Amino acid sequence: MNMTLNPNIPEAVRAVAADGTKLRYALMEMAAEYKDAIALGRGDPDLATPPHIITTAERAMRDRLTGRTPVAGLPELRAAIARKLQRENGLSVEGENIIVTTGGQEALFLIMQALIDPGDEILVPDPRYTSYDDAITSAGGQIVMIATDHNDAFNLRPEVVEAAITPKTKALLIVSPSNPTAGIVTEERLRQIADVAIRHNLIVISDEIYEKFVYAPYHHFSIASLPVMAERSITLNGFSKTYAMTGWRVGYIAAPKNVIDALTRVKAVTTGPAASVSQWAALAALEAPEADAAIREFQQIYTERRAVAMAGLTEMGLTFSEPRGAFFIWTNSSSTGIHATELSYLLLKEGRILLFPGTAFGENWGGYLRISLLQPSDVLQEAWQRMKPIIERYRVNNSST
Ligand SMILES: Cc1ncc(COP(=O)(O)O)c(C=O)c1O
Repeated sequence: MNMTLNPNIPEAVRAVAADGTKLRYALMEMAAEYKDAIALGRGDPDLATPPHIITTAERAMRDRLTGRTPVAGLPELRAAIARKLQRENGLSVEGENIIVTTGGQEALFLIMQALIDPGDEILVPDPRYTSYDDAITSAGGQIVMIATDHNDAFNLRPEVVEAAITPKTKALLIVSPSNPTAGIVTEERLRQIADVAIRHNLIVISDEIYEKFVYAPYHHFSIASLPVMAERSITLNGFSKTYAMTGWRVGYIAAPKNVIDALTRVKAVTTGPAASVSQWAALAALEAPEADAAIREFQQIYTERRAVAMAGLTEMGLTFSEPRGAFFIWTNSSSTGIHATELSYLLLKEGRILLFPGTAFGENWGGYLRISLLQPSDVLQEAWQRMKPIIERYRVNNSST
């Protein structure tokens, strides 16, 4: 496959091609110019925040619950998050082990700022959500990539993790289910990885923001539930994905109390507490009687879309890694013979479909596309119809040259 970028692609894309985060934003800006674009790019749920959550926020505003909360979060919400983690994830935590953040994004930055001393190495599976790179490097750390691959459904391999450890390694970051690969790290591997972490005295940061979207026969497992891991695990989660609450900006971290205190000190001098109305809404998201039904409805919708997407891509002759979780399909586009950055640009220009090239998640991934399942099934079908002739045309052109 030709892995060099075609000189004809616009400077706006070319200039940022090596920076995953900037590349995603450049493509989103271009797509905003097209009124008829189908957005399968960003990982923000298209579904509406459930009504009982909105009603709670309205009530909080009317009841003037609009003052600032303690920096680490509303005590009622911290306690509810702790109960959720005990009940669903098997963690031994109390409210004092929780900090509420302004989204998972802030959680990432707080963790890295509080944890990293200059020169520390943080192990991160590749491909990856490149905000990790931004958070790690802005704290003075070094990102060390851990290879994962298609043949293993992008599961994490304990022996590959272990081989990357040096005296400077401070932590291992795990994301399961994964953005962008939709792979998961299975319980068996997590148990083996826990042994590695203990042997080498590593902290494990576990990003579980997609935990509610794991497809049968797979299941989610929290590494911090292993008793030996409790003292060295930092669990990150949030409300954006589970409850379609991206704009409410509420996330959280569970960790030993001394870590929470360190994170709270950083948060106090940066953003202060998360928005109070959003925190009341998050409390309803977790504990209202309607809470479980809302998640089940979302799970059903994503399960259906996933089936539609797998069928559509297969019909186009594209292969993909089995999507075991999240709401993405990590699609192998190498049969087109075109670098994924260029292909994403062409699909946007010629087909009005926004999706992200694998290179938006690491430079090694020029043969992949990340497709988000964040449109109704009929819109997904329309996207495949637009995409199919383009894929076929390039595939034929490149096989005949
Ligand atoms: C893997 C992962 N972690 C964390 C986040 C942060 O999400 P938010 O800031 O909306 O909570 C995202 C968002 O896309 C993500 O994909």
